[in-house]
Amino acid sequence: IRAEALAAVQSAGSTAELRELRVRYLGKKSELSRLLGQIGRLPPDVRRTLGAAANEARAAIEAALAERERVLQEVELAARLEAERIDVTLPGTPVPRGHLHLLRQVWERIEDIFIGMGYEVAEGPEVETDWYNFEALNIPKGHPARDAQDSLFIEGEDVLLRTHTSNTQVRYMQQVAPRLPVRIIVPGRVFRRDTEDATHLSMFHQVEGLVVDRGISMGDLKGTLLEMARGLFGPDSRVRMRPSYFPFTEPSAEVDVSCPFCGGSGCRVCKETGWIEILGSGMVHPTVLRNGGYDPDEVTGFAFGMGIERVAMILYGVDDLRHFIAGDMRFVRQF
Ligand code: PHE
Repeated sequence: IRAEALAAVQSAGSTAELRELRVRYLGKKSELSRLLGQIGRLPPDVRRTLGAAANEARAAIEAALAERERVLQEVELAARLEAERIDVTLPGTPVPRGHLHLLRQVWERIEDIFIGMGYEVAEGPEVETDWYNFEALNIPKGHPARDAQDSLFIEGEDVLLRTHTSNTQVRYMQQVAPRLPVRIIVPGRVFRRDTEDATHLSMFHQVEGLVVDRGISMGDLKGTLLEMARGLFGPDSRVRMRPSYFPFTEPSAEVDVSCPFCGGSGCRVCKETGWIEILGSGMVHPTVLRNGGYDPDEVTGFAFGMGIERVAMILYGVDDLRHFIAGDMRFVRQF
């Protein structure tokens, strides 16, 4: 038994194998244990010799196991260290880093410019009532914007997806009136019932601006928009106003910015006019102020609404609105 066990221990290739050998040669059911168990039935002198031999064998096997275990542990540790070795000088696997969508970048730039002028960023609901979207804004019943052709109605004719961020003008004023000043921008999604093409989407984004205080004038509006244009399109930008019409502002003005590409001398981008239209604006109509809880005899205000996609298209030369929502990574990654 001893010779067989010692040979087996010598040739064992792993500590796992050693554990098996220990059970086989020294365990309760091993030959050696059985022998020692029966030893009591033998005559005393035989018992002594055999007992001594068996104990010696046990000790020898124990010693061999311990020695072999030490050797194998070293081998196994070395193998494991080799296998788990890490070369810290190898270049790492780059972690892909995403970035904000172009539209969101422009959105945040606009926010930053107005926050810098002391504005608060407000929000309004995308699902809106006819009253806040139209009626409160002095938009008459027969106005084309109220037509089912142009708006996306949700429940009958009273609830719809807001067609402009102007819905938040009266909502906000009602919340804070009679506090002054009101000085907010409202960025957000708007919805129109349009067939999508390069210049129309059924969902796009606007930034509304609304300022109400004592003595606000058209000059404040123009100065504010000039500051915004300089921040967005460069410090040499100029703005000009053209008379226009919106039911909720009086007077109303369409605003152009000098072409950031030719500086106003005329190029392809501005179709040789030197100007690019960027927004609609005007002095808040007395009816709208009243609906918001302000007295038009005491305060005045201005408002404007600008398309965020439009600004992004001008700044980055995007030629098709559908790029913004197509999810094509070749577009998204460019900005
Ligand atoms: N709501 C108008 C639009 O969507 C823009 C606008 C906002 C005009 C505020 C005047 C004042 O076209």
